Parts: sequence; C-alpha cells; structure tokens
Amino acid sequence: MNVGIITVSDKGYAGERLDESGPEIKRILSENGHSYSEYVIVPDEEGMIYNEIVRMCDELRLDLVLTTGGTGFSKRDVTPEATLKAITRNAPGICEAIRQNSLAITRRAMLSRAVSGIRGETIIVNLPGSPKAVSESLEFAIDSIEHGVQILK
Ligand code: MTE
Repeated sequence: MNVGIITVSDKGYAGERLDESGPEIKRILSENGHSYSEYVIVPDEEGMIYNEIVRMCDELRLDLVLTTGGTGFSKRDVTPEATLKAITRNAPGICEAIRQNSLAITRRAMLSRAVSGIRGETIIVNLPGSPKAVSESLEFAIDSIEHGVQILK
C-alpha cells in the first residue's frame, strides 16, 4: 500500500510539540509490512487539511491517507469536516468499528468524531490524536483497511 500520513496539530505545525502520533502510524505500518510515501504536519485549519487530503488522493494517487488529530470537540477540531468535504463515497464502517472497539478500552472513545470514506481510488481514515489512541485504533483496523484497498483497485 502507498500510504500518506497527515498529522493535524497546531502545536506540531508550529514546532512547539514533537509529533509522536505520525511516527506511531509509521511504526504500525512497518510492523504490518507497509511503508509510507508521504508524511506532513498541518495546523487545525480546515482548508489546509482538505488541500493536503486532495493532493495525496488526486496528485500522488495514494492507496490510503491516514490523518491523526483534530477529531474531538474543541472548537479547533475540524479534521472530520475537511475529510467529509474531500470524500466522494461514504465508508463510515471503518471509523464506526474503531470507535466500537475503542469503547471497550475507554469510554472517551465516544468523543472522537472521526470519519472515513473514499475519494477516487483512495481510502481516507481519521484517527484520534494521541499516540495511544492511534495504536489502539490502527492496530485493530489495519488488516480490514488493507482488504478494502485491494477491493478498490
Ligand atoms: N480512542 C482510543 N482508542 N483511545 C483513546 O485514548 N481518546 C479519546 C478519543 N478516542 C481515545 C480514543 C479522546 S479523550 C478524545 S477527546 C477523542 O478521541 C478525540 O481525540 P483528538 O481530538 O485528539 O482527535
């Protein structure tokens, strides 16, 4: 799989916080036999998140785009809104399943507004922001996402 990683974080973008979630995604991809083609950090700005998702789908033609962060309830959390504008086909089951699985770990999983969908031949999945939430979400879903990528081709 050709995978793009987008870390959404105001502090990460400003260089005020080291991004640990992007590297956590890389680690899980690598453990599952995948690498990544593109990795960027963007602030919690809807237009910038949208542009980056569209670039990874339409120009780089990646199989999978994983975002981390910006899925919660704070006013700056706009990753789901940017993602919903970018997708052309709904695929809510991925994030529904992640939320359901995560609820067994923490009830706060219900506070993630993460969405998933398809644009062209690319699957886009929002993951929550913390490295712990990333591993709990992605390790659970990676195998099924990979199957989805195969079917989409
Ligand atoms: N999912 C899992 N598996 N583990 C977690 O620790 N944290 C939750 C939720 N999903 C969490 C999780 C919390 S506390 C929040 S606020 C939301 O994800 C949104 O996180 P985000 O704003 O960093 O994207």
